[in-house]
Amino acid sequence: MSSPTGTGGTAHKVVKREAFGSRNVFILSAIGSAVGLGNIWRFPYVAYEGGGGAFLVPYLCALLTAGIPLLFLDYSIGHRFRGSAPLAFRRLNRKTEVLGWWQVLICVVIAVYYAAIIAWSTMYTAFSATLAWGKGNEETFFFSEFLQMGKPTDGVSFDYVPGVLWPMLGVWAVILVIMVLGVKKGIGMANNIFMPLLTVMFLIMVIQAVLLPGAMDGLNAFFTPNWEALKDPAVWASAYGHIFFSLSVAFGIMVTYSSYLKRKTDLTGSGLVVGFANSSFEILAGIGVFAALGFMAQASGQGVNDVASGGIGLAFVAFPTIASNAAGGSIIGMLFFGSLVFAGVTSLISILEVIVAAVQDKLGWARVKATLVVTIPIAIVSIVLFASTSGLFVLDITDAFINQFGIMAVAFVTVLVVAYGVRALPKLATHLNGRSTFKVGLIWRLLVGIVGPLALGYMLVSEIIAKTSKPYEGYPGGMLAVFGWGMVAAVIVLSVVLAMIPWGPNSKAKNDPEYREFLAAEGLEPDREQIAGGTGGEGVRS
Ligand code: ALA
Repeated sequence: MSSPTGTGGTAHKVVKREAFGSRNVFILSAIGSAVGLGNIWRFPYVAYEGGGGAFLVPYLCALLTAGIPLLFLDYSIGHRFRGSAPLAFRRLNRKTEVLGWWQVLICVVIAVYYAAIIAWSTMYTAFSATLAWGKGNEETFFFSEFLQMGKPTDGVSFDYVPGVLWPMLGVWAVILVIMVLGVKKGIGMANNIFMPLLTVMFLIMVIQAVLLPGAMDGLNAFFTPNWEALKDPAVWASAYGHIFFSLSVAFGIMVTYSSYLKRKTDLTGSGLVVGFANSSFEILAGIGVFAALGFMAQASGQGVNDVASGGIGLAFVAFPTIASNAAGGSIIGMLFFGSLVFAGVTSLISILEVIVAAVQDKLGWARVKATLVVTIPIAIVSIVLFASTSGLFVLDITDAFINQFGIMAVAFVTVLVVAYGVRALPKLATHLNGRSTFKVGLIWRLLVGIVGPLALGYMLVSEIIAKTSKPYEGYPGGMLAVFGWGMVAAVIVLSVVLAMIPWGPNSKAKNDPEYREFLAAEGLEPDREQIAGGTGGEGVRS
């Protein structure tokens, strides 16, 4: 939708900012974003490795001291400054735009590999119907027959695997359609359909898993606390590391989504619902996955410890093995992999929205043009890198590095800059409290300004030491240099470059009548940059 408007005497087309249909659709979409591959595929193993039941202590600490406070911070920035991450951070202060681009580029990296896992899950949903991997052949099937994996020492190959390429094309086509339809008709509608489906499917899967013979052994292994683990700083680090990815915090998603909310919306109340729903889903995933592993351990005469493998192996080797051996295994498999697909799609669209919204704001483009220009190149890179025989290695390295040195690093720098660089916490707290039921006060400011940076800083340093002292997972140095360190450095350098590109007269920084109306309604001083038609300004004061 476009309408002509005047700014500084010149007529410019203004693209109307999109919005969620209601607060409930926003909450559902924020939960859809948070509940993703991280919850189903990553959490159960992170929790198990981190001391089982005892892991709930660092997990809850990370959730309450960093996850929820930073979720509120994201909401306040997005809603107060009403923009994509770069625009919102620019309005916070002209010099902080770079933080927004850093978050956008992290989303580009995540989107590229996230789609590959959704494509694998789509195929495995279909394979589950006939247990196509063959009983006893699950591991060989996944690595050698399905992915046709090469060796890491071969470097990146451009040998394509049709069994991965076609599903990836299909996933990107579906995502493209949802994104083109926009926030209300695309993202809101997709979440309205997929989230109830996901919840029902996942609940049935968990119930079925808990009823399997041996399930209790798995649950005992999962919940029995190993208090010793709490003495290990790495366990605390992994809890903090997990919570940001899982809640979709600090990489632009919640800033973007909250910018699509009406002026008077309960922000912190919505945040608590989202945080609680995300953690409930995660713990439920732990129960379902470990109940199923308990069954597998009993069926194979091994300990739960021996059958619980990490990440990709847990989903794509252990679950097919469970499906091969359990009564009604096809159904368990279809429900599990189908849940991964729905959870993944509702998260991937939120990740892409960060990028689309940023391009729209900076260039003043309409929805369809921005979506096509953003999504098609990302889809091509995604397919080129991950439909090949080296896809799994690249994915493993990229995922590990973007989490630790992408999300963690940007979260660390953001809290420092917001708390001490531009000293915006009191202003943001006032904004949250002006419209929310749950009020934030000194504790929130202490958590964001002191506890957050200390925890994140400690984690970053320990991760840098760990990843520089020995090659991650023994991968060749060249691969780590390109897809690990190189990718992290490229994201930072490119974000500085993007922040230096001037905003044109059609951009939202220069021409945003809706924002002026918002400021007027809130009784805030208007942005000089817009009034002057681009002669500069110092951000918005309140
Ligand atoms: N929050 C999303 C996940 O957990 C990105 O996968």
